[in-house]
Amino acid sequence: MSTPAERLQQLFSPGEFASAIDEAAAQLKAHFEQVLSGQGPVQNWSHPLEKIERARQRLDEAPVDALPTLDRIRSLIEECLQNSQNLHHSHYIGHQVPGPLPLAGVFDAIGTITNQVMAVYEMGPWATAMERALIERLGGVIGLPKGEFAGLITSGGSIANLTALLTARNVVHGDSWKEGMAALTHPPVLLVQEDAHYCIARSAGILGMGTNQVIRIGLDDQRRMCPKALEAELASLSSRGIPVTAVVACACATPIGAFDPLDEIADLCERYGVWFHVDAAHGAAAAFSEKYRHLVQGLGRADSLICDAHKMMHVPALCAFVFYKQAKHRFAAFQQDAPYLFDPSAPGMADFDCGLMTMECTKRAASFGLWGVWSTYGPGVFADLVDATFGLAVEAWQLIESQVDFEAPYRPQCNILVYRYLPLGADISGANDMNREIRRRLIESGDFYVSQTTIGGVAYLRMTVINPLTTIETIAHLIEKIRQISQAVSASVSA
Ligand SMILES: Cc1ncc(COP(=O)(O)O)c(C=O)c1O
Repeated sequence: MSTPAERLQQLFSPGEFASAIDEAAAQLKAHFEQVLSGQGPVQNWSHPLEKIERARQRLDEAPVDALPTLDRIRSLIEECLQNSQNLHHSHYIGHQVPGPLPLAGVFDAIGTITNQVMAVYEMGPWATAMERALIERLGGVIGLPKGEFAGLITSGGSIANLTALLTARNVVHGDSWKEGMAALTHPPVLLVQEDAHYCIARSAGILGMGTNQVIRIGLDDQRRMCPKALEAELASLSSRGIPVTAVVACACATPIGAFDPLDEIADLCERYGVWFHVDAAHGAAAAFSEKYRHLVQGLGRADSLICDAHKMMHVPALCAFVFYKQAKHRFAAFQQDAPYLFDPSAPGMADFDCGLMTMECTKRAASFGLWGVWSTYGPGVFADLVDATFGLAVEAWQLIESQVDFEAPYRPQCNILVYRYLPLGADISGANDMNREIRRRLIESGDFYVSQTTIGGVAYLRMTVINPLTTIETIAHLIEKIRQISQAVSASVSA
């Protein structure tokens, strides 16, 4: 039995804390050694209800008034590692979420443990400083006009896009923050890359524009926005006097990783006087790479853009940047009174209070991981990550495309690749079901984690090559595994 005072003392004991960190470090080291070499499952699959039951049991068996032991902490850390998705596994080639650089996790943990929250500079002075420095340097790499741009970090690409589009709405449609959309004589529209992430249409819903006001601009044969189609739409809207909130281009779009021709779109936006937004959540990091920088040519001309550092910059989620080409737009999204936060005795300080620019009041300091790895390794680390993963995706495509029983219709523009199993003479109408079933069995087997998508009614398997330690042998192994599963599926259907 322990007393409440003893228990509270122990909660903050530096010695206990150091033992827990040592234990976590030892287990994470063993975990990395295993999964980075591709051993063990990508995920110990079990039904969600089983996992929930297990998590509930661990809660219920917590000691009521005894002091916890290191053994208990050890077994709880084991539980977390055993039941999670192993993003660092070389067979994890699924979504655009990386196994972060481990050192980024270490710096992130420092911010988490000391709880450097942000809304006002005073509460997170170093977090604010790191964020501002990162905005300057990343904006410079992206090619925003030196000394003119501004930005912020927020919780994820979806909120980043929402924030940028809210800014566009408030700037383009004068009084809309106060008066709402009803005050406009004609409902405005949003012109969007056809494959744009669903958060863009959600933003239109949230902003009171209505998802019906989202106009999808057609794509070329590589699923990039077609400038001719955009021009025709802009001309038609302009002749009818219909206001445009923004044109939203992608660098790149989620399904196959297609990069829109940003320079051409920027020219059109300038010609028609329209706000140009780029969702570069995934692809902005290409700006670090000499080899792939051409993909984001023109990104620095956007009025607003976003970049998820928790995608191709390999830092822990969530760390999403919003950039404005003109610094004056940084306060246009949110206009509010919060006298207890923003101190009129030091008006110049408000510029460092990010609460004025973000949806969040208490904002997690998301810059620790990125600032830590950038300051340790230099920006070349991001070029290496882009080069390795984009390069392997092309090799993977060549290998898959050369198989008679596979189809991979789009040469990858980055590290996202779609493909499907389609043996000669296969029943085309059953191919969608077959590929979906293959994915389900792959995941449940723990051998691979891949994602999926549907394009024009055709179901594809999808991979994001996001672990720089994945090799072409991994892809060859995946091809074999898919064949084995398809045989098992066919056998189970005919049995
Ligand atoms: C192009 C694009 N934009 C936005 C998002 C949403 O970002 P987040 O998941 O950080 O909210 C994604 C997610 O994959 C994406 O691919």
